[in-house]
This record gives sequence, structure tokens and C-alpha cells, in this order.
Amino acid sequence: MTRLITGDRTDDDSIARLDDPDLAKDVAAGLSAGQKTLPSKYFYDDEGSRLFEVICGLPEYYLTRAERAILERHADDIVGDLEPDARLVELGAGSATKTRLLIDALVRRQGGVVYCPIDISAQAMRVAEENVKAAFPSGVVFKGVIGEYRDALGRLSTMDQHQKLVLFLGSSIGNFTLAGATRFLAAIHDGMGPRDRLLVGLDLAKSPETLVRAYDDAQGVTAAFNKNLLVRLARELDADFDLDAFRHEARWDPVESRIEMHLVSTRRQTVHIGRLGLDVEFEEGESIHTENSYKYTPGMVARMVRESGFREERMWTDPEGRFALRLLAPA
Ligand code: AVI
Repeated sequence: MTRLITGDRTDDDSIARLDDPDLAKDVAAGLSAGQKTLPSKYFYDDEGSRLFEVICGLPEYYLTRAERAILERHADDIVGDLEPDARLVELGAGSATKTRLLIDALVRRQGGVVYCPIDISAQAMRVAEENVKAAFPSGVVFKGVIGEYRDALGRLSTMDQHQKLVLFLGSSIGNFTLAGATRFLAAIHDGMGPRDRLLVGLDLAKSPETLVRAYDDAQGVTAAFNKNLLVRLARELDADFDLDAFRHEARWDPVESRIEMHLVSTRRQTVHIGRLGLDVEFEEGESIHTENSYKYTPGMVARMVRESGFREERMWTDPEGRFALRLLAPA
């Protein structure tokens, strides 16, 4: 495993370090704004990561299943035009469950593969390494890189001359604003060589009912995931949030084509954040905006792809047309 030591941050907020030194600053700024906000990157402490894994298996949260269905059907086609001995690079290590389908396809095609996940979290990397080594006792060389995506990609590009298929799955791109997503893709583009390809997972616009259900499930797991942010602030910043005085809400914004998650104050109240020496006033019904999850129309994708310096080579969707994988090449 390679450790990439870097103090640099990307210019968007979707990548967090554990014990992020920016937490106090971001919380002070976000809770002092007119529309209170908290960056969604702070969802993913240990409990948040565990809850997210549960969300991925919920009946209402179709995204993971839809993306897996595409990979189950089309993995051979997706890797079909790659050069022999192409490498697989994944942004985010995750549990590598969906990635296995692509690894399988590459093993079938070229007998083996070098798999390079990039993740800021050493713990996530260890889990991915164990999973991959257990699933592929031979044929797969695991070369994880701990660090920021852009720096790590640049480093991988200079490390060897093999073509790379870079993966950014799960519609994680949807948690950036459109401008932020374009900047992020442009940064990935800058770390890629001309023969490399990017496979990006994008959730597609669909009925608001389906979308709201996916982000406000019947078992309340997404509500717990959202509220866990307050638990984290209580623990790390000595904040005295009363969890019963906030409720989870998923809102569809048709103009932005995004689901917004909010934590809505159920009464007028003041929350004290000890480590910041800050009192935050809430009116009844006032919310903290905690996440955006964009649902893409073809126009939104085309613009983002073009403005980040890519061109689209191929596209695959699941049988119900809910989710898309797009293969992008540097333009
Ligand atoms: C990680 N990301 C793609 C998820 C999403 O669907 O936007 C995070 C999530 N938030 C609520 N449920 C899942």
C-alpha cells in the first residue's frame, strides 16, 4: 500500500479526513449562515459509514442495486475496448463489492489485474484490501494509495505506462454541486493520461415520489444517518443537540434536480456548541441543510462532461433506466 502524504485539499467538500481539522471551522460557518448548512462529508464517521452500508441494501434505495445490475450485465462490454493489461483505479475504496464484477471481467479477459483504489482513509483501505484478497486469492495485485484523489491519480499516471480505467461509482459525484462536480471531474481529467478512461456512476432524474422514498425510508435508517451528524457534533465539538427536537426531511428540488436532506428543528431552541463557544438559535421549522444529491438529466450530464474536458464514449443503464454508467475519455 502506498501512503501519499499531502496537506492539499480539493476545492470542494466531498472528501474528508478522519478527525478533520476543518470540522470546527465548517460547523461555525455553516451554522451561522442564513440557511444553516453542514457539509455532507461529515456523515462518514464509523457509525455514519455503517449506516450508509445499511442504506445501500434498503428496498427504497434503488441506486446500489441498479448500478450493480448494470455491472452484472455489462462488465465484459465495459472493459471490452481497454488495452491488454489495463489497470483498474478506483476513487474511494468502499467495500469493493461492485468493483469485484469489473475485476472479474478483467481477470476473465487478461488473466489478472492490478487494482489501485485511492482513498483518504487508511481504515477503508485496509477493509478493501482484505475484501479483495479474500475474493481473489490470486490474479489480482492490490496497490492501494492513501491520499487525495487528484494527487494520487497524478502519481499513478507517472508511475507506469499502463492504460487505466478510473472508477467513480455510486453517484458520489451527485453530492457535489454542479459547478463542484465539474471542477472535480476536471481535476480527475488533469490526473489522467490521454489513453485512460473514466467510468462514472450517475443517478438519473425520475419521479419525485421514488426519489423522496429513497431518501426517507420506512425503517428510518436514512433519518438515523442524517441525525448521526448531530451525534458527531455532540461528541467532537461538545454540542448539546436534543436529537428529539430535530426531524429528518428529504425534499425534492425540481429546479436544481436534486434531493436535499434537511434536519428540521421541531421547536424554537438554542443549541450550545461548547468547543466553539457558540450559541445557535433555531426557530420552529428552521432547518440545517445537510446534503444535496443530484439526479441527472441528459443535458446536465452533457454540460458537465464537456466543461470538464471529457467526451462520452459509451453509456449503459439498468433495465429500468434509473441509473447510468458513463465511460468518459479525455477530449
Ligand atoms: C454517497 N451518496 C452517493 C449517497 C446519495 O445517495 O447521495 C449518500 C446518501 N444520502 C442519503 N442516502 C444516501
